Amino acid sequence: MARYAHIVGWGKYLPERVLTNGELEKLVNTSDDWIQTRTGILQRHIADPKETTSALAVKAGRQALQVAGLSPRRLELIIVATISPDHIFPATACWVQDALGASHAVAFDLNAGCSGFVYALDVARHLIVAGAYKNVLVVGAEVMSRFLDWEDRSTCVLFGDGAGAVVLAASNAPGGVLACSLGADGSGGNMLLIPAGGSRLPANEETLARRQHFVKMNGREVYRFATHILPRSTREVLGKAGLELEDVELLIPHQANQRITLSAAKSLGFGEERVFSNVSRYGNTSAASIPIALCEAIEEGKVKPGDHIVLVGFGAGLTWGAALLQWSEVPLRAKPSPARRTLARLIYPWANLRSGLLRLYRRLDAIWCALVKRLAQLIGKAR
Ligand code: ACO
Repeated sequence: MARYAHIVGWGKYLPERVLTNGELEKLVNTSDDWIQTRTGILQRHIADPKETTSALAVKAGRQALQVAGLSPRRLELIIVATISPDHIFPATACWVQDALGASHAVAFDLNAGCSGFVYALDVARHLIVAGAYKNVLVVGAEVMSRFLDWEDRSTCVLFGDGAGAVVLAASNAPGGVLACSLGADGSGGNMLLIPAGGSRLPANEETLARRQHFVKMNGREVYRFATHILPRSTREVLGKAGLELEDVELLIPHQANQRITLSAAKSLGFGEERVFSNVSRYGNTSAASIPIALCEAIEEGKVKPGDHIVLVGFGAGLTWGAALLQWSEVPLRAKPSPARRTLARLIYPWANLRSGLLRLYRRLDAIWCALVKRLAQLIGKAR
């Protein structure tokens, strides 16, 4: 029997702190008017200094699991799409797995710039359809603010922090993620990158002085690429599924710049009512932008069962990708019993405790092994 991958849960998290264009006027030589007219952005959310990318991902992931009515223990795979991970390694997805207490889940990160969420959705869908996994958490999470040069007006006004997540589940019912179309062109890698901190240019005093550990972007070139690739990618994914542009109820593009969104909509012949936009409130949250937008579209009632929705992104790499969804009625869950509700409340404190106990066990085990080794050496000497 054919298997399909359906979105059965969704969630988002935006840090509390809001940074307005007015505040940016005090930081760099810019103006609210320039930012609004060139990008459509009015404000963005910025993570608290203690908030990490994994912390944002966990908040969005918990919400998605709650909507799905799924215990984290039933997750078999977690993919975190991000270009602002907690560390180069381990994967941010592993921190998320630990914090959720998803002890049976495989976890890895996916770096495809702002197309990361669509890439991750395609990977998850294939693994579900192939029968490898039943329940997968796909997250897009970014704390871009840590990687921005707050003295560079050409980039710092564009980005924001946030996370969005979906739970994908296997089902025999047709629908869900119907098709994806991905692409990459590495010859454009230098258009948008963080030059230092990797093996090509390890961080050192000189790279720090030259501010090469921050995002650098050729905005005009990325703009040209984006306006051409969004319509092409949308057409490609529809072609794969044998659908036409008229069949699409809602287009959810990567939220980078309102001018890019409007240009793509115009070239596809979509009116504003068929294109979702929230870039004015969040700026460009990179891999998190599409899941955050999807989540808001659902919350605002813009997504109905049977609707065809196209998610389409572009980003660093250069990469691009579109996913075609047919929205399905999420089955109404029976109200959980009081006992189940209490258990559900204990899941995350228990995950925290379990993680602490595992760390303690590793330390005690190491001490015990060292003691045994020392004892063996002493006995050897005594003989
Ligand atoms: N405030 C005021 N002036 C500015 C600012 C600013 N924040 N930034 C640039 N300018 C100036 C420039 O210096 C330039 O001045 P000049 O003419 O004297 O040289 C002038 O404004 C125009 O600059 P342009 O770069 O031509 O401005 P443009 O209209 O192209 O808009 C922008 C710039 C918004 C960056 C646009 O090119 C864009 O959106 N590009 C795509 C960026 C994008 O989507 N990136 C995300 C990719 S996804 C990912 O993977 C992370």
